Amino acid sequence: MKLNDCHNFHDFRKLAKRRLPSPIFNYIDGAAEDETTYARNTASFEQCDLVPNVLRGTEKIDQSVEVMGQKLEMPIYCSPTALQRVFHHEGENAVAAAASKYGTLFGVSSLGTASLSDIRKQYHGPQCFQFYFHKDRGLNQSMLESAKNADVDVLMLTVDTITGGKRERDLRTGFSIPFKLTLSGLVQFIIKPNWGLNYITHPKFGFPQLDQFVDMSSGSVSVGKYFTDMLDPTMTWNDVEKIVQFWNGQFCLKGIMSVSDAKRAVDIGCTGIVVSNHGGRQLDGSRSSFDQLAEIVDAVGNDIDVIMDSGIQRGSHVLKALSLGAKAVGGGRFYLYALAAAGQAGVERALEIMRTDIERDMRLVGAKKISELSVDNLRFR
Ligand code: LAC
Repeated sequence: MKLNDCHNFHDFRKLAKRRLPSPIFNYIDGAAEDETTYARNTASFEQCDLVPNVLRGTEKIDQSVEVMGQKLEMPIYCSPTALQRVFHHEGENAVAAAASKYGTLFGVSSLGTASLSDIRKQYHGPQCFQFYFHKDRGLNQSMLESAKNADVDVLMLTVDTITGGKRERDLRTGFSIPFKLTLSGLVQFIIKPNWGLNYITHPKFGFPQLDQFVDMSSGSVSVGKYFTDMLDPTMTWNDVEKIVQFWNGQFCLKGIMSVSDAKRAVDIGCTGIVVSNHGGRQLDGSRSSFDQLAEIVDAVGNDIDVIMDSGIQRGSHVLKALSLGAKAVGGGRFYLYALAAAGQAGVERALEIMRTDIERDMRLVGAKKISELSVDNLRFR
């Protein structure tokens, strides 16, 4: 199986599974506990049908959107994710280059393996910085200042990770950061020779956003334990309000699921919220983002940009979310499997498939531009 054989999410996933050592694949592929929320995130799109209109003269299709002050050429962006160089040696550079080429947003993570400011210097498309609020206030201040100095377009604060989700696949495989080759890892290294060869022939990676503050040499921990040990569970709306004031620009909260939280985000001056359950990786049993979207759009859709992520695998999922009133959608695994499969070429192919699927589906639904989509296009079972 080659990159050219990948025509959808599942194909990229299959190729990633072949190429990656299994602890790494399972870190991307896994979610919390019974993974029910993870499964429901995508299944909930199947509870909703598209109702197409015909004969609308849909020759020219414009799928661009404006969200958080940014013009995106396509309505799905690459959600910031951690550890990209563990998945493929091109890491964050591959994602930044591909997203920039397709004119969409991407982000560098607090747990990124490339420096936010290096990436900012090289790529000029819309960029965000994904911020984790750590116990170490010096680290928080340093990251915020770097992001401000780098002049990234959007600050995205993740608020659903104050403690680690119980990712049972990681507990079984021992996947941890910094990535260490354990004895069973060594076996993987031998049975996945391409990944192994790339791992040893490319410069060692670190965590440029954290390096000065977090001593990673003292042993490795699971990502769940990193959240629990390092991130600050005492964080409140007051802390966030101060960060919003400091940032004084496009500021988005990622991981909002309730209407009351959505309203508070408006009250403290956020310009966006991402309705998200972190791809099912945190609170298993949490409602799916798509199921929760309508009531949040109804409550705050006129006051703030409502975005959603979690579960999006296809262009038709994107159209359903936008028809319900999301201004844009984010996705993680859809481009991570592709990154693992083939680096930048993989991410470009994943974005190209999304772009053409969205365009085709808009034509078939009868919408020339995103603003022509509405709940009139949807029926729930
Ligand atoms: C995760 C974090 C790092 O879900 O976003 O693993």
